[in-house]
Amino acid sequence: MAIFLINLPPHDMQRRLGDALGVYVDAMRYPRGTESRRAAMWLEHTRRNGWQAVVAVEVDAPAGATPSSVELGDAPLLGVAYGYCGAPDQWWQQQVVAGLQRGGFADLEIARLMASYFELTELHVHPRAQGRGLGEALARRLLADRGEANVLLSTPEINDEANRAWRLYRRLGFIDIIRGYHFTGDPRAFAILGRKLPL
Ligand SMILES: CC(C)(COP(=O)(O)OP(=O)(O)OC[C@H]1O[C@@H](n2cnc3c(N)ncnc32)[C@H](O)[C@@H]1OP(=O)(O)O)[C@@H](O)C(=O)NCCC(=O)NCCS
Repeated sequence: MAIFLINLPPHDMQRRLGDALGVYVDAMRYPRGTESRRAAMWLEHTRRNGWQAVVAVEVDAPAGATPSSVELGDAPLLGVAYGYCGAPDQWWQQQVVAGLQRGGFADLEIARLMASYFELTELHVHPRAQGRGLGEALARRLLADRGEANVLLSTPEINDEANRAWRLYRRLGFIDIIRGYHFTGDPRAFAILGRKLPL
């Protein structure tokens, strides 16, 4: 078995949505059924400006062989990462701006940050493939050629930043933008992290 990273164009994400959501639900250890509640949102994201996705696939190919695009396109998914250009009409940006205002950031500083960023919306590796550097490889590939000035993301707060997501983001140089933030309608506390691009 060999693992490959491939870019997934919007129509392929639409075709493989069930598989991608399966990776997400297993990685986040959400209850089965969460997929159907997320599907419409993930589909809507594929139509956003600057949307880009990278997936990790597992192919039954001998070492050194180059699988065809059809083999890669149909291979089981091990990981998924995607994001898009932040914009003022997006709920996430509006929430982050409210958090920054509450945190006392100056309007000019907020405007500068919001003017050009890539939102790293989802990054998940199936539990059976975690801890082998795949998440980092997905993030690096996704962020490699972006034209935005910054990348921003949100991740659940966890004591002592003691999980793989936090370790990965810190290793990639993400710094605190807002800590302990509560998005409307979600009881969990989140951190908003960011860093300058290019990575
Ligand atoms: C967060 C997540 C995407 C990170 O992906 P990952 O593939 O598990 O982890 P990384 O790419 O950061 O790799 C780190 C681990 O791989 C190891 N590693 C790194 N490069 C490696 C390589 N080339 N070969 C083997 N192992 C390697 C590191 O030692 C590290 O191990 P450790 O965490 O036990 O110290 C993944 O763990 C995940 O999906 N978690 C659940 C969902 C989640 O939290 N998503 C983010 C929500 S915001």
